[in-house]
Amino acid sequence: MKRTHHCNELRPEHIGQTVTLAGWVHSRRDLGGLIFIDIRDREGRTQTVFDPSALPKDLFDRAASLRSECVIAAAGKVRRRPEGTNNPKIATGEIEVAVTELELLNYADVLPFAVDDPEIASKVNEELRLKYRYLDIRRPEMLRNLRLRSKVATATRVFFDEQGFMEVETPILFKSTPEGAREFLVPNRREPGTVYALPQSPQQFKQILMVAGVEKYYQLARCFRDEDQRADRQLEFTQIDLEMSFIEREDLYTLIEGLLKRVWKVALGMDIETPFKRLSFVEAMNRYGMDKPDARFEMELVDMTEDFRNSAFKVFSGAVQAGGVVKALNARGLAGATQGQIETMTDYAKSFGAKGLAYIKVEGGEWKSPIVKFFSETERAALQSKLKIEEGDLILFAADQWLNACEILGRIRLYCADVLSAQGKLNIDPRRFDFLWVVDFPLLSFDKEQNRWYSSHHPFTAPVAEDIPLLTTDPKKVRGQHYDIVVNGWELGGGSIRIHQRDVQKTIFEQILQIPPDIAQARFGYMLEAFRYGAPPHGGIALGFDRLIAILCGTQSIRDVIAFPKTAKGADLMTEAPAPVEPKQLRELHLELRIPRKEG
Ligand code: AMO
Ligand code: AMP
Repeated sequence: MKRTHHCNELRPEHIGQTVTLAGWVHSRRDLGGLIFIDIRDREGRTQTVFDPSALPKDLFDRAASLRSECVIAAAGKVRRRPEGTNNPKIATGEIEVAVTELELLNYADVLPFAVDDPEIASKVNEELRLKYRYLDIRRPEMLRNLRLRSKVATATRVFFDEQGFMEVETPILFKSTPEGAREFLVPNRREPGTVYALPQSPQQFKQILMVAGVEKYYQLARCFRDEDQRADRQLEFTQIDLEMSFIEREDLYTLIEGLLKRVWKVALGMDIETPFKRLSFVEAMNRYGMDKPDARFEMELVDMTEDFRNSAFKVFSGAVQAGGVVKALNARGLAGATQGQIETMTDYAKSFGAKGLAYIKVEGGEWKSPIVKFFSETERAALQSKLKIEEGDLILFAADQWLNACEILGRIRLYCADVLSAQGKLNIDPRRFDFLWVVDFPLLSFDKEQNRWYSSHHPFTAPVAEDIPLLTTDPKKVRGQHYDIVVNGWELGGGSIRIHQRDVQKTIFEQILQIPPDIAQARFGYMLEAFRYGAPPHGGIALGFDRLIAILCGTQSIRDVIAFPKTAKGADLMTEAPAPVEPKQLRELHLELRIPRKEG
């Protein structure tokens, strides 16, 4: 019995035709002596009917013995459903197939969880879903996500092909160049003591491809980073990675805006507006307290530093005198927060390094707060006018060094937005996508603990040309030619114009990042060497492909758009990777294990 149609295909115009469907038993209902079985395949589902008065007993009995997720083929005539029994929720809801032939292609045991009911499936614990991922993927939501992923990958390839890009694959077995995240290492059997590393990104290869004259490279590239996993991070993930020669930042913005325009059209049928807004790093921090602002709602940070420079409230004036700032936030509608909720929020702020979280609740026409008694009339007036304080508002403060104060309130801003959303006081349209470029990042950041500079992006990012002289005199003032693309509070991608002059790259490695020359040579020598032989000016970007798909699918977790993702502990629950290996395999690799004893 070979199928003639898929399960989302039959319509009233097929009535009278004899068809064969194949798929899984989605559901079975026994009603008024009849058996109704919905057959489901990748495309959708169709109702079939087994009528004992029209069928041999053994066929009817076989239908009666089927359980959910058995694989069957069924043939019969398409007919209109009886008056009043149409199912408008499915595309085939006007017809049914009156079965005359049935074949059981494979039996299914009782499932560990139901896949037919979206209500139930959404409550199934994720670990169980991951262990039985093949059942989880049968759910229409998961299939839709994977289908969208495939569609966007294809659209991306078509787009880059049209733009004259070449897809070039780069090695997965690479060498260790510790700079960013921790790497995965692969011991080499052929030469004891040497290891490969899995690439964190194709960064160095794509730059070498520019030296090689490829000019326009892209790749849907697999990347590996041994870092803590979160909803938007996996140990292995995919980037839309690209690099171009003879370009400036503006060329890249236009290219990526074009790509995203295409992707949104193909995936969601939406026309997004370009060009995107641009925000400098400093402005993003000042207004949103994040370098990946969610600009779909306001609740912006307000600077109160000058107003409290000489305040009697020493927490604020002290911070300003120590060179810091006072930042405030008006969480409109949150004045009803209980003491317990304020404490939770304070602890949350403290987990990001806050010393406290001063607040004012505006209730019953009064400012309720342990600290307002310290405020002068002028200070109160300044707060009133800058924060436009009204009944029902909750004002929150951070007094600290500039970056800390911004970051703390940036987190609190998102926290308040979540609370307000849950209370129905903040409604964000799920079809709203707020894109922006964050630019003018500092090239370098200072690590106080290690007392040294490190690259804000990566060490290949070019300084803004006019800032190059500051590299050796005032590094913190040097701006990088780095850009991030942000949507709805997600860092979707990041890239930069690169250094292509050997001497500038050497200065960054050796003088700024303090990598000793022999180590710089061992790690990056081949790049410095390549730059001797005619390296064109170049730049590029990488977009997180999993994040892109998650945003398009409207899910918070990239695990929902990856067929076989890993858990927070880095495990694949289905295959049970990672797993021990045979001693013989270790011997071949010249490895001996020293396994720490488990605590407790
Ligand atoms: P970067 O490290 O910013 O840049 O990475 C680019 C984008 O990749 C995504 N991403 C991740 N997605 C899922 N899981 C992870 N663990 C993860 N880490 C990063 C993010 C991020 O914005 N070579 C440079 C790019 C360049 O300069 O051209 C790079 O990798 O969406
Ligand atoms: P204290 O004087 O330490 O009792 O703090 C008074 C109020 O100010 C409390 O609500 C603290 O949470 C808050 N607070 C303390 N330090 C800071 C700070 N650096 N920024 C913002 N609020 C603070």
